[in-house]
Amino acid sequence: MRAADIIIKKRGTGNQKGQELSQEEIEFLVNGYVDGSIPDYQMSAFLMAVYFSGMTFGETGILTGCMLRSGDTIDLEKLKGLKGPFVDKHSTGGVGDKISLPLAPIVASLGVKIPMMSGRGLGHTGGTLDKLESIEDYNVNLNEEQFASIIEKTGFAMMGQTEKIVPADKKMYALRDVTGTVESVPLITASILSKKVAEGSDALVFDVKCGKGAFMKSESDAGQLASFLVKTAQAMGKSSCALLTRMDSPLGFKVGNYLEIEETLECLQGKGPADVMELTYALASRMAVFGGMAKDTEDGIAKCKEAVKSGKALSKFLENVKAQGGNPDKLLGEQGKRRSKFKSELFAKQDGFLTVDAYKTGIACINLGVGRNKSSDKVDADSGIIFCRRQGDFVKKGEKLLEVYGKSPDALESGKQQLEAALDFCEEKPEEKKLVLKEIK
Ligand code: URA
Repeated sequence: MRAADIIIKKRGTGNQKGQELSQEEIEFLVNGYVDGSIPDYQMSAFLMAVYFSGMTFGETGILTGCMLRSGDTIDLEKLKGLKGPFVDKHSTGGVGDKISLPLAPIVASLGVKIPMMSGRGLGHTGGTLDKLESIEDYNVNLNEEQFASIIEKTGFAMMGQTEKIVPADKKMYALRDVTGTVESVPLITASILSKKVAEGSDALVFDVKCGKGAFMKSESDAGQLASFLVKTAQAMGKSSCALLTRMDSPLGFKVGNYLEIEETLECLQGKGPADVMELTYALASRMAVFGGMAKDTEDGIAKCKEAVKSGKALSKFLENVKAQGGNPDKLLGEQGKRRSKFKSELFAKQDGFLTVDAYKTGIACINLGVGRNKSSDKVDADSGIIFCRRQGDFVKKGEKLLEVYGKSPDALESGKQQLEAALDFCEEKPEEKKLVLKEIK
C-alpha cells in the first residue's frame, strides 16, 4: 500500500470524484502517521482531500475507531470498580459558553457519574480547562487513577487530554489547525468522538452550535455535524443525542476565564442568566435521562432546577474544587471582587437596539488576554468582559454597555477597539431567535 495512492483515491481525478476508502487504507494512514512512517506532508494532503471530498458515514466510523485505538482508553470500572452509566456532554465551542461548568455539578448531584475530558480555548472560542485553571491550584493535569478517584469521590472530574489518550488526534489536530482543514464534518466527528469514547463515557450529549460565533456558521452544516456525531456515537454502542443551538451573540453576561467561573457560581446560587440556565437545563436534563436519574426531559429539567434551588449542585461544585486542589472558601470569598487592575468601560455611541457579534467579541477577548494568538501564549485568568446590556436591549446614547478588563494597558486598548467593532445599534429590534433550534436523536 502507498500513501500517495490512498490520497489520490480520496482526492479524485479530473471529473471523477474522490472514492470511499477501506478500513485497511484508513488504518494504514492513521497508524503510519502515529508511528512516524507517514510524514506531515502526506497527512496534510490526505486531510485536504477529505476536506474537499468528504467521507461517508461508514468511513467516518472507521476513522474514529482507528484514532481511538491509537492510544489508551480509560476503564473506570477496572480502575476503581465504578459502575456506569457514565455520561458526558460536548460543545463544539462558543463565546461565553461556560455550560459544562454549572452542568457537571448539577447532573452529578443527581447521582450521575461524569468523566469530563475537556479542551483549551480554540480560535475565538473559550476553553473549559483555561477557565478552571483560573481557580488557584485547581489541577486539570490528572492521571487516569486520579481522574477515577475524583469521580468516585465527587461524581465528576475534569481533566485535559493526556499524552497517552488518542495520540492520533493530538498530532492530526495540530496539523489541521495549520493546514486549513479544521472545518470538516468527518474530521471533527472523528476528533471529538475518539476522545469522548476514550474517556470512558457510555452516553454523550452534544451541543452543536451554529451562527456567527460558531465554527459551523449555517444551520445545515451544523445539522450535518450533529447527525454524524450522534449516528457515529450510536454505531460505537453509545447512547447519544445532540441539540442544535444558536451562537450569534455571547452566552451570559460574563466572558473570560475567572469571570466565567464567577458566573458559574451565580448559576449554582440561583442567580444565573436566563440563556445560560436554559441551555444548561436542556443539556443536563438529557444527561439525567441517559444516566437513569430522570424518566424524561421534563422530569430531568425539574430535578436539575431542584438541585440548584436546594444548594446541592453548588456543594457538589465546591466539593470538586477541593478534590482537584482548589480552595472553595477562597473562591467564594473573591466572588464579585477579583478583577484585573487594567479596566475600562464602553458606552453607547447612539440610541438603538444593541447587537453583539459573538465572533468579534471572541477575537477581542483573545487580545485582552483571555485566549491565545499562538499555541505557546499563556492565557490571563482575570481578563474579560462584563456586559451590562445585551443583544436586543434598547440603549440610550451615553449609557454604559460593558466593563472590559485586559492583561496589560496595551492589551486593554487593542481589545477595547475590537470590541467597539463587535457592537452595533439598530433602529429595529433584532429578531429574537430561539436558543435551542432542534434535537437530533
Ligand atoms: N474540537 C475537537 O476536539 N476537534 C475538532 O476537530 C473540532 C473541535
